[in-house]
Amino acid sequence: MSRTPIIAANWKMNIGPAEAKTFLAGLKNEFSCQCSKSCDVVIVPPYITIPAVMETLGDCKCIGVGAQNVSQYDNGAYTGEISTTMLNELGLAYVVLGHSERRQYFGETDAIINAKIKKTLAAKLTPIFCIGETKEERLGGKLEEVLKTQIVDGLKDLTPAEVETIVIAYEPVWAIGTGLTATSKEAQEAHAYIRGVLADTFGQATADKVRIQYGGSVKPENAAELMAQPDIDGALVGGAALKPDSFAAIVKASC
Ligand code: G3P
Repeated sequence: MSRTPIIAANWKMNIGPAEAKTFLAGLKNEFSCQCSKSCDVVIVPPYITIPAVMETLGDCKCIGVGAQNVSQYDNGAYTGEISTTMLNELGLAYVVLGHSERRQYFGETDAIINAKIKKTLAAKLTPIFCIGETKEERLGGKLEEVLKTQIVDGLKDLTPAEVETIVIAYEPVWAIGTGLTATSKEAQEAHAYIRGVLADTFGQATADKVRIQYGGSVKPENAAELMAQPDIDGALVGGAALKPDSFAAIVKASC
């Protein structure tokens, strides 16, 4: 089954509007904006940086833009929140949801993430749905149980047609920002398991279409080996996506 790899830069709470312009100038030097069918490339800036990124990308439509979160509510009295209507107005394509930092620091549960995924799909945006286990869960033999619960509860009530449009990011929490990358074997095993859960829940045809990214200390040096695994369809990159040369090197190694 051929799936187009998707490489996304999650800038987290880094890179304001001015720095984004410098980053994108550097990125455009590293690779051309000619559309390549071999890969989807996405930048996920902080909300406040999104307009600068959209403006600077201009005609470089080959790079998609996403948000790092969205509200599960419609416009209204929700101080500090951003709605899907607002993201639509900016012309975004993707929304990262369920990142372990949102789960850990902001109390996002599988039920909240499920509501956000539904809202995102209703707005015709593509969720990048993050799942992954902590070190304790892996060492305690709970890897499969944790992933299954996150998938089944996070994608509750969705149809197979909706699920096949979603991107899943498998990010083992112990590998995020630690320099500890899952080996390509560990990552492939987890991705194959995730695809198996999708097949059991939504059917094999749907599972075969879902792109599953790996995230957790992806670097130019390990990207090619990870991307060569049959069930790894891209990367969600944090630290190494803060510099245009290293992000471009990951894209080149992956596409
Ligand atoms: O969403 C990306 C992420 O959490 C991985 O971060 O810094 O380990 O590449 P990093």
